[in-house]
Amino acid sequence: MPSMTIPPDLVTSVPDIDQQHAVFLALTNRVLSADPRAPNHAQMLRELSALVRYVDYHFAAEESEMRAHAYLGTRHHVAHHERLRRSLYEILELSRLPGTARPVAVRLRLLVEEWFVDHIRRMDIDFAQFLLQATASPNPRLPGRDDLRRTGVLPPLRTSPLAMTVVV
Ligand SMILES: [Fe+2]
Ligand SMILES: [Fe+2]
Repeated sequence: MPSMTIPPDLVTSVPDIDQQHAVFLALTNRVLSADPRAPNHAQMLRELSALVRYVDYHFAAEESEMRAHAYLGTRHHVAHHERLRRSLYEILELSRLPGTARPVAVRLRLLVEEWFVDHIRRMDIDFAQFLLQATASPNPRLPGRDDLRRTGVLPPLRTSPLAMTVVV
């Protein structure tokens, strides 16, 4: 089965997320490239198990970032992850039955295409936009460097008279 690529408009610009999506796609392609006529399609089953483990890792990574930044769309996004995870587990279960390599490859391909359109394009990109903003601007509720110096948490600013460099 031909391999899949990530369309350029699905780049989120958050390096960790994009890198994880690239690994996810590479693992998907390994499943799709496994020979479906191989006895017991053992290789396909191995590749699919690796994909399921990686998806669990990727979803957990996104979800922990959402919680760390109090993202308002967390519940909706996590529910969608759950749906995708369930579909992937169903495919894994199907792949344990003999003679199912071809339908497994077809169902996986359809799921990943839907994943791109329904999940990455809509939800991951929204979350990535939020994350880029949340990590770019300091939280106004948190004390700044000057506040920490005034209250003695940070040492006072020292200026070297020779090099005129500011020592933080
Ligand atoms: Fe996601
Ligand atoms: Fe994602």
